[in-house]
Amino acid sequence: MSMQSMYQGAIDWIDARYPMTQVWNEHLAEYYAPKNFNFWYFFGSLAMLALVIQIVTGLWLAMSYKPDAELAFGSVEYIMRDVEWGWLIRYMHSTGASAFFVVVYLHMFRGLMYGSYRKPRELLWIIGVVIYLAMMATAFFGYLLPWGQMSYWGAQVIVNLFSAVPIIGPDLGVWIRGDFVISDATLNRFFALHFLLPFILAGLVFVHIVALHKVGSNNPDGIEIKKGPKGNRWSDTAPADGIPFHPYYTVKDIVGVAGFLFLFFAVVFFAPEMGGYFIEPPNFEPANPLKTPLHIAPVWYFTPFYAILRAVPSMGGSAFPGVVAMGVSVMVFFALPWLDRSPVKSIRYKGPIFKAALWMFVVVFIVLGWLGTQPATETLTLLAQIFTVLYFLFFFAMPWYSKIDKTKPVPERVTQ
Ligand code: HEM
Repeated sequence: MSMQSMYQGAIDWIDARYPMTQVWNEHLAEYYAPKNFNFWYFFGSLAMLALVIQIVTGLWLAMSYKPDAELAFGSVEYIMRDVEWGWLIRYMHSTGASAFFVVVYLHMFRGLMYGSYRKPRELLWIIGVVIYLAMMATAFFGYLLPWGQMSYWGAQVIVNLFSAVPIIGPDLGVWIRGDFVISDATLNRFFALHFLLPFILAGLVFVHIVALHKVGSNNPDGIEIKKGPKGNRWSDTAPADGIPFHPYYTVKDIVGVAGFLFLFFAVVFFAPEMGGYFIEPPNFEPANPLKTPLHIAPVWYFTPFYAILRAVPSMGGSAFPGVVAMGVSVMVFFALPWLDRSPVKSIRYKGPIFKAALWMFVVVFIVLGWLGTQPATETLTLLAQIFTVLYFLFFFAMPWYSKIDKTKPVPERVTQ
């Protein structure tokens, strides 16, 4: 029997018992994606790569890490100095967390640009926002684990936000910490949750892809290729403007992976702390419950929301209004599919008002992010208040400005 027929025999044996070839065809070789994907379509597959990097490096870190308030900080130092290649695994994981957020923010921005959250992709978008929330939780739990000063005091600040909720707040804080302050009990449970969540994320990503393959990808023109003419080189029934995902986009995505890994390892090898943005300086000091750092700030990917939290004045000594504003600033992403009333999806055919609003939002997000890293002086707080208003205007004024904006005619078929 030739190798070829042995191989085919094995495939047939599996296919008779499991839909392997069927899944391969339906989701890759005969899955037709719009032919005009551009740079911005790299970030979905890169987000999957980032998740894999986090799970693999995290598993290896867990082999030497000790979730114990007495031992945690030392065990991370041990990984950095004594475990074979431990420094690489740790820096890949800490850099990987930031890289994951960079990639996902670009992925979400693509959605904003091309209206990928609009009908029929509302649920795909909503699953994406759930993924984003799960990522935030994972990163928050993970940041406590090295048990450095910023780990400790950052967690203290964030858990105290829950304590600001009226009536149930104080009990809620104790319930989350398992203690009256951040302690060994907190560290233990955060480790358990930090281990669990990435697998939940993997499940959510699967659901995300199922939703994507039900409705099909959007594209930079924001028009539905499924509704256009049928028939291409490969199939008479496929959308004319679709090309098989494999090999066309698998190869394209490999280019993205190469570019990503080049930049990723440049950071891992040459600037893993990224000037204090990826690993904050106080975290090289062990947690000390008796010494509050002068200036507490979360890692960069949380700072836009942290700036919003601090911008809102407290009421009667309670930080609750700020907590609500921060909560709404994240949750508002869920509402996006219903806030945009423009007759077109893609920024290419939207009018000047929407374009200006989107670019303003990018600037606002970055400035708020920077403000969140700075001490809250009077001037900076005023600035944060102005930018917080602009942040919310982008969303809450959208039903109005997206409607009155002058759009351009949309093409019948996708352009290159
Ligand atoms: C672990 C994180 C995530 C992974 C692994 C992931 C994965 C993917 C992949 C592989 C695609 C198809 C390729 C592409 O369009 O780039 C995709 C599309 C999409 N994702 Fe995600 N995603 C993640 C997070 C998010 C988040 C946070 C959102 C939004 C809040 C989101 C919204 C979307 C939308 C709307 C599409 C369709 C885009 C289009 O067709 O234009 N995703 N995602």
